[in-house]
Amino acid sequence: MDSGVGGLSVFREIRKLLPSEHYIYYADNAHCPYGEKSPEYIQERLREITDFFLSKGAEVVVLACNTATAAAIECLRKEYEIPFVGMEPAVKPAALGTETGVIGVLATAGTLKGSKYLNTKGRFEDHVKIVERVGQGFVELVESGKTSGPEAEATVKAALEPLLEQGADRIVLGCTHYPFLLETLRKVAADLGHGDVQFVDPAPAVAKRLVQVLEERGSSLGDSNPGTELFASGQDAKLKEFYARL
Ligand code: DGL
Repeated sequence: MDSGVGGLSVFREIRKLLPSEHYIYYADNAHCPYGEKSPEYIQERLREITDFFLSKGAEVVVLACNTATAAAIECLRKEYEIPFVGMEPAVKPAALGTETGVIGVLATAGTLKGSKYLNTKGRFEDHVKIVERVGQGFVELVESGKTSGPEAEATVKAALEPLLEQGADRIVLGCTHYPFLLETLRKVAADLGHGDVQFVDPAPAVAKRLVQVLEERGSSLGDSNPGTELFASGQDAKLKEFYARL
């Protein structure tokens, strides 16, 4: 699940490792963006979505959304028996890879305020400088399909430039919508003279974690009815369009 199409950037990685499962993707786009919503609101949404997944016979739930993970994964794990796999901003690989000693994090306000991120940040802050920015307007751009062009570039530049100016050479994409802006992020970075900056996406690591969880459960991999069902709480046209691009 995700608040919209962003989770498809995680699903893409999951399907590379597990091509023959039966997937149910839920975009909660009637309530998107989650970024500025209260944890209580997001927890309530996630209960409803989890109940929906359970009614469809799901075995594992992936919160392909950093904001939902930050707000709700702990309470969902207490309330439900089904395993939940969540997002973790990729601070560790960025911290290990940086040459300038500065890493930038782009995420939603909810993720940057969450205890999960703050704990991770605390573990690395003695070794590297961490600078952050909310990707203001990024989610809206992606949901409306405007991932390139002047408007996307101006929006991306407003968040990215301050991170680059502070010396960041690794930028963590802490929201699953942001990989859909990767080309624009790279272009804007190059235009600003930072063509060598690297963007770090945690999606491949999350896909590996899902495989581990399934193995730990002793699940047999490969479904007799492989495929994907797409659901949206709002309009599903963009979801279908993005899915077709995968
Ligand atoms: N894709 C989401 C995330 O990873 C949610 C963004 C939003 O709805 O604000 O945080």
